[in-house]
Amino acid sequence: MIDPRIMEMQEYLKENLSDKRFRHSLNVATAAKKLAEINGADPDKCYLAGLLHDICKEIDPELQIMLMKRSGYEISEVEWGAPKTHHAIAGAQFVKEFYKITDPDVCDPIRWHTVGKGGMSIYEKILYMADLISEERSYPDADRIRRITYRDLNRGLFEAFKFMIVDKIGQKLLPQSTVDAYNEYTALELKRLADKK
Ligand SMILES: [Fe+2]
Ligand SMILES: [Fe+2]
Repeated sequence: MIDPRIMEMQEYLKENLSDKRFRHSLNVATAAKKLAEINGADPDKCYLAGLLHDICKEIDPELQIMLMKRSGYEISEVEWGAPKTHHAIAGAQFVKEFYKITDPDVCDPIRWHTVGKGGMSIYEKILYMADLISEERSYPDADRIRRITYRDLNRGLFEAFKFMIVDKIGQKLLPQSTVDAYNEYTALELKRLADKK
C-alpha cells in the first residue's frame, strides 16, 4: 500500500528542492515503479524510494554529515572524501528520523543510490537504475541504457557501472563497493555472452 503521506512528502520536496530536482524525483519514482512492475518487486515501495532518494541533496553539508554519522551505515573513506555522495547516506537516515520509515527496501536503496555495491537487493538495483534512466536524463547513452534496463535489469546495471567507471577513471577515486558492483555485473554479462555462443 502506498504511504498515505505521499502528498505531504511531495509538498516537502517541492519546498526543499529546486524545480529541476523536484521533477527529477517524480520521474525517478515513476521509473522505479515501472521497473518494479517488470521485475516482480513492490511498486509502492519503489515509488516511495524514488520519490525520496534525493531528499537531502540540497540541505546544508554539515547537516548531511551529522545525519551520516547517526546512520549506522558503514561508510568508506572514499565516500567521506566525496561530498557529492553524502546526500544518499544522509537521505536514508533523514527518512528514518523525519518520516519514521524503517523498511530496508526503502531506506537501503536510498543509501546506496550513488555508489552501488555488490550483492544489491532487487530494491537497491531498481532505484540505482531508475535514477539513471528517469525520463529527463539526456546524457549521450541515456536512451540506450534505458532501453536495455527495461528489457534486462542486470544488463542495465552492467552498462551503468561501465559508463560510470569510465567517466571517473583518472579523475575520481572509486569506492570499493562500486568496484564490487562493476565486477558482479561484468561477470554476469560475460557469462551471458559465453552462453550465447
Ligand atoms: Fe542522488
Ligand atoms: Fe537522483
